[in-house]
Amino acid sequence: MRTIRITGTGSALPGRIVTNKELEQMVETSDEWIRERTGIGERHVSVGETVVTLASEAARKALEQAGKRAEEIDLILVATSTPENVFPCTACEVQREIHAEHAAGFDLNAACSGFLFALQTAQAYIQAGIYRTVLVIGVDSMSHMVDWSDRSTCILFGDGAGAVVLRESKGGLFVQAAHSDGAKGDVLTGCSRHRKNWDHPDEAKAAYIQMDGQSVFKFAVRRVPEIVEELLEKARIQKEEISYFFLHQANRRIIEAAAKRTGVDISRFPMNLQEYGNTSAASIPILLDEWNKKGLLKKGDKLVLAGFGAGLSWAGSLLEW
Ligand code: UT7
Repeated sequence: MRTIRITGTGSALPGRIVTNKELEQMVETSDEWIRERTGIGERHVSVGETVVTLASEAARKALEQAGKRAEEIDLILVATSTPENVFPCTACEVQREIHAEHAAGFDLNAACSGFLFALQTAQAYIQAGIYRTVLVIGVDSMSHMVDWSDRSTCILFGDGAGAVVLRESKGGLFVQAAHSDGAKGDVLTGCSRHRKNWDHPDEAKAAYIQMDGQSVFKFAVRRVPEIVEELLEKARIQKEEISYFFLHQANRRIIEAAAKRTGVDISRFPMNLQEYGNTSAASIPILLDEWNKKGLLKKGDKLVLAGFGAGLSWAGSLLEW
């Protein structure tokens, strides 16, 4: 059976770092509160960078590591909920930037779960024999979506991009699961900032992220361990065989609770949210790139990736490195 293997990773972050101390000057909050409730210490915010420049930089690095030229890419899939424009899509803009002339490309939006949905779409294309080499990018510029006067959301998010190059592989493992619960979507919303509301101009101001934090927290803590279990069952392997669980980097307490419920030591749940905050669709590929660059991933390692977020949606993949 055809499956996929990640052959290269890359990431890109804006240069401007906003610390919790800096946020103390903007809203009524404290470094102590943010660290205790979320684990976040700072985040990167775009000043000049765009989702296209960040995604393109991450893509170039992933291609370099994979030893592939841009012209060899068959498909570019970009997971983002913060595109610069509604069209052209970010994937086409990245194609232009990196000169991937032979690639088709489109964007996909499943908010913070988007990278996993894109990875699974890539696997389906490869498995169907349609494409062989796919570039999957998770990128978001959440700083454009948050209300910087709302302390309950602005402290959480950051900007960034992560990319992986996927190749067809004979053998190896790739198991996937994805779910949505649109009926509960109201607990986390963000309107397009491009929307002009002809009948109700006031509604255009709802561009910012609105979130019932506690509901999202409970949803994540319940659904992440469930999907991990589902992946292990599908793959017919034990949790002890998994080297690392790369979860969406939203909140340290969510990851700790998920580790506890899964019955796996927290040391096998990599984290970097202390430096980047929640970068939405970019969080998992950025983390994966970091672990890869540190040489912490060995060929044959079994990894679980799991994301969750607006939709509500949650998705996971179990794959072999
Ligand atoms: O990709 C998915 C995106 N979303 C998430 O992952 C969010 C998941 N949820 C969370 O991470 C947590 O719910 C938050 C970090 C957002 C909030 O933590 P919490 O422990 O659920 O706090 P809370 O909302 O219950 O608020 C506790 C108190 C409230 O004050 P009172 O009512 O007890 O007086 C808030 O007004 O903390 C207050 N508060 C803050 N205080 C200082 C809320 N935000 C802040 C803040 N600084 N930034």
